[in-house]
Amino acid sequence: MSVNKNLLDFINRSPTPFHAVKNMRTELVKHGFKELRESESEKLEPSGQYFVVRNNSSLVAFRVSDKGSMVGVRMVGAHTDSPCLKLKPNAVVEHDGYVQLGVEPYGGVLMNPWFDRDLSLAGRVTLMSTDKILFSRLIDFETPIAFIPSLAIHLDREANSGRKVNPQTMLPPVVGLSGTDKFNLKQLILDKLVDSQLAKKTDVVSDFELSLYDTNPAAIIGLDEAFIAGSRLDNLVSCWIGLKALIDSSSVDTQLLICNDHEEVGSGSFAGARSDLLESVLVRLVGDAAKFSSVMSRSLLVSADNAHGLHPNFLEKHDQSHGPVLNAGPVLKFNANQSYATNSETAAILNLAARNKNIPMQSFVSRSDIGCGSTIGPLTSTRLGVKALDVGIPTFGMHSIRELAGARDLDALYSLLCGLFELPSIEVA
Ligand code: CO
Repeated sequence: MSVNKNLLDFINRSPTPFHAVKNMRTELVKHGFKELRESESEKLEPSGQYFVVRNNSSLVAFRVSDKGSMVGVRMVGAHTDSPCLKLKPNAVVEHDGYVQLGVEPYGGVLMNPWFDRDLSLAGRVTLMSTDKILFSRLIDFETPIAFIPSLAIHLDREANSGRKVNPQTMLPPVVGLSGTDKFNLKQLILDKLVDSQLAKKTDVVSDFELSLYDTNPAAIIGLDEAFIAGSRLDNLVSCWIGLKALIDSSSVDTQLLICNDHEEVGSGSFAGARSDLLESVLVRLVGDAAKFSSVMSRSLLVSADNAHGLHPNFLEKHDQSHGPVLNAGPVLKFNANQSYATNSETAAILNLAARNKNIPMQSFVSRSDIGCGSTIGPLTSTRLGVKALDVGIPTFGMHSIRELAGARDLDALYSLLCGLFELPSIEVA
């Protein structure tokens, strides 16, 4: 099966973690998954399919094993957030005839690529009705309304040899020209929500979490359509492919997908991987607190997040024996200092799933003189006491506003995750 077309749609319709979770929720409901509230304690049925959402930006979906008895849990983890520019609370700045928006970088943004793009705004808005009821709505302006112009080369002759980006002074986008009245962002937000029938004219915009995004849609590009280019490939690719694998896999053991927000800023929030979200769902699944560690000891977490592909223009940045190539298969990530959770046993389990499905695998370890990133894998593994590993498709330009990955790796990752969900045993003697 080709996951590409639906994946492109998902990325384009998910400019923020809130939208990603909304779209995953729709897909789950379409396939018979039932939403559970954290505030209620409904009994779970054998073979039942459920999901839990927290903060509208993190999601746990699972299918209970048909035996009903809990042996272990096959888990795939990913994250819904991506580095971006978020609006400040008092975002509007008017001077010298222009209206601009104050922004704050979220996560490890590669800032240079944000210049000269047709940007739009999306996120969550919290409103108050006339009878003082608070409610939140998602918003997406969809059309390009903002632009961060580069300084012309004539005014900065050093631009190609050493331009540094100051996020406070250089990144506020231009959104329009100052008029006689002060530009009213909250009114603009309310008008958009009223137009979409998501709010009434009498409601008041209280607060918002809005971020800028590139309106240029994700696309399949290259000779032979070898690549996928788009925003937020890290890590909406793994969210979507993990979701499809969960939906399509036949049940062996209990299967679960966790997609956390706030990975890009260290996972420390009530919806992040350091929170009790996954643990509380697992406690509910296991039923009996005394059995929890025994179930965890027979469980496995596959943390799916993108890897760095060997960049042909920067070969010196890679270890010469570990250079994952785009379209040559998913990448197992290793780090002796546990920035990745992979060990010899968990790698062997995944490699067995890959062998069963004829999927080529690659491996990544960073150069010993360059640090490496991390994922929700080691955090979740530490918190739950569960075996884990890190895997992902190789990409270029991680954390750029537009990243590049191999189109064929998407199908390979899908088959691999299905293979893991359906592997008869994950025991290592
Ligand atoms: Co990531």
